[in-house]
Amino acid sequence: MLDLLLVATAFFTLLTNAVAFPPPEPCTGNCTGYVHDPSVVRRNDGRYFRFTTNGRINIATAPSITGPWTYQCPALPKCSKINIKGKCDLWAPDVIKVDGKYYMYYSVSSMGSKTSDIGVATSPNMECGTWTDHGSIGIPTGSWNRIDANFLSISPKSTGYMLWGSFWTGIWQARMAIPPLRVVENVKTVHLEQNTTKRPENRPTGPSEGGFQFRWRIGNKDWYYLFFSSGGCCNVPPKLAPPGEEYKVMVCRSDRPEGPFVDKRGRNCATKNGGTLVYWGQGNTFAAGGQGVMYDGGLNKVVMYYHYIDRKVGYAYEKFKFGWNVLRFGNDGWPVVVPWDRKNVRRDDGLEREAVDETFPRTADVD
Ligand SMILES: *[C@@H]1O[C@H](CO)[C@@H](O)[C@H](O)[C@H]1NC(C)=O
Ligand SMILES: *[C@@H]1O[C@H](CO)[C@@H](O)[C@H](O)[C@H]1NC(C)=O
Repeated sequence: MLDLLLVATAFFTLLTNAVAFPPPEPCTGNCTGYVHDPSVVRRNDGRYFRFTTNGRINIATAPSITGPWTYQCPALPKCSKINIKGKCDLWAPDVIKVDGKYYMYYSVSSMGSKTSDIGVATSPNMECGTWTDHGSIGIPTGSWNRIDANFLSISPKSTGYMLWGSFWTGIWQARMAIPPLRVVENVKTVHLEQNTTKRPENRPTGPSEGGFQFRWRIGNKDWYYLFFSSGGCCNVPPKLAPPGEEYKVMVCRSDRPEGPFVDKRGRNCATKNGGTLVYWGQGNTFAAGGQGVMYDGGLNKVVMYYHYIDRKVGYAYEKFKFGWNVLRFGNDGWPVVVPWDRKNVRRDDGLEREAVDETFPRTADVD
């Protein structure tokens, strides 16, 4: 068993070392601290809003994804209306613009607990003091944990897709009513992702969480990507996750928003432990995850942002850093993290041009 494990670990190390992942791109200002599970939205006027886990959801703003980031305020100073443990320590915000209004989904939970729920607040412009809490969105209880919400809107006139789930039975999806304040009547839950692979050292079975849906057009076809974080998110020496078991970003893909999702090798992500590695911290970068993906109209690039540990700064929870990288969708339609080409901030290929002009203004991430 140990031998097998060693072989598996060595193989993973080989695999991941074969691909060099660029380090996080520059970030200035407030980039360290309570920046877990970021959600970034670029407003029409070019101002960037960053929402992060803890407290009453931290809002920071910047003129660019690179910063300088300035902390502004808690989004929900009066806590959440959802009256369970954690209502004043909210997690995993997800902000999206739908039909001219900003929706912020958030989780109320506590470490290791399945007594959780997802709530929503709305704002006309994302500024401090403008967020109105509406409480629970009404996802039923089940084998899943109701945390880590992410909403995909196809159009304000159709029922969009709410994603949630973590740790227990992976990632799930359900349709939202119009406007997206609640799940639809007689809601049906769809299982999109689960990893049942046995992990070393009696660790819990392949936790996956922080799912994020991203739509991208390649040629004339819209593809739906399911990004998620897999592995152990938070640990400090000497109990660091062994190689291959650290937090990392995986992706699956489908030609329909409700799946089924498969990985690059064609493995089903709900039933066959599928998932293709997108980002794995190397060198001083460790345990990157809690990611989101947006088309960044400022850089004219698709950007993936996330939190990570900088080994030089420390592993403690309050030392986490905000990171981002450019994603490129290759000819095969799979996203790859590439170094940011600063000299070339103008649109530099057809895919991006298409997104600027047509495909993406329908969703909030492309303001
Ligand atoms: C940076 O932002 C965090 C919230 O993400 C906040 O707790 C902290 O006070 C901010 N630091 C400064 C120096 O503004
Ligand atoms: C599934 O879990 C195994 C064991 O923890 C891990 O090595 C692998 O990377 C995971 N795969 C996905 C797709 O998350």
